[in-house]
Amino acid sequence: MPRKPIIAANWKMHKGPADAAAFIEEFENLIGGSSSVEIVLSPTFVTLPAAKAALANSETTQLAAQNCHFEDKGAFTGEISIGMLQEIGVDYVIIGHSERRTLFGEDDAMINAKAKALHAAGVKPIVCIGETLEERESGQLESVLRRQLEVGLKELSADKMPATVIAYEPVWAIGTGKTASPADAQQAHAFVRKVLGELFGEEVAAQIRIQYGGSVKPANTAELMAQPDIDGALVGGASLEPGSFSEICKNAG
Ligand code: PGA
Repeated sequence: MPRKPIIAANWKMHKGPADAAAFIEEFENLIGGSSSVEIVLSPTFVTLPAAKAALANSETTQLAAQNCHFEDKGAFTGEISIGMLQEIGVDYVIIGHSERRTLFGEDDAMINAKAKALHAAGVKPIVCIGETLEERESGQLESVLRRQLEVGLKELSADKMPATVIAYEPVWAIGTGKTASPADAQQAHAFVRKVLGELFGEEVAAQIRIQYGGSVKPANTAELMAQPDIDGALVGGASLEPGSFSEICKNAG
């Protein structure tokens, strides 16, 4: 079965409820009720309910949270549980984004705890991985990706993996305007799929969608998506305008 492309907007700390509702109205008009790709919007926690309401009649667009805690409840000031996100109707949760790793100290073991909790709850994780420029330039690309996958996906059951999305985002390409060349991105994606095959079997690995992220824009989407192991995109800056994000979704189809 061919993998259906998945394009996700990562809004980071942008757009409160009113902005998000205005975006969604314009975006849904531009998309026009059908899409050959799966589309996901990831607003901030406080914006999720307004986004859900604005998407009530959408046939195309789903919702993701940008993070979650791995425990059900308890004394974790400032955190949000997966059950709370399910109550709002979230379909996906992004975990392990490089900003969470570098600015908020998340490590592969914590990302693994979140992935396990999401699988147990039946919510689909988008697991972000990727190397820094220093790691790439010192020849550690494969060892870093392998560690992030082996530890981050440790003990996950293979039957839940086809619904799990991996986002390969080279840290040096995020928000910098520098995109990995399609050939470099493909090489990293093929390596990720090889490791997924070792961990979960080749048949499962062939079903897992691997998104590329890092300065994706309308002009480079088609070329990236034409690569055999690139199955979508996780888009930051260019997802903030309905026009550019809808173009990315169309160019990915
Ligand atoms: P960018 O961000 O598209 O602005 O580079 C991507 C991301 O951080 O997911």
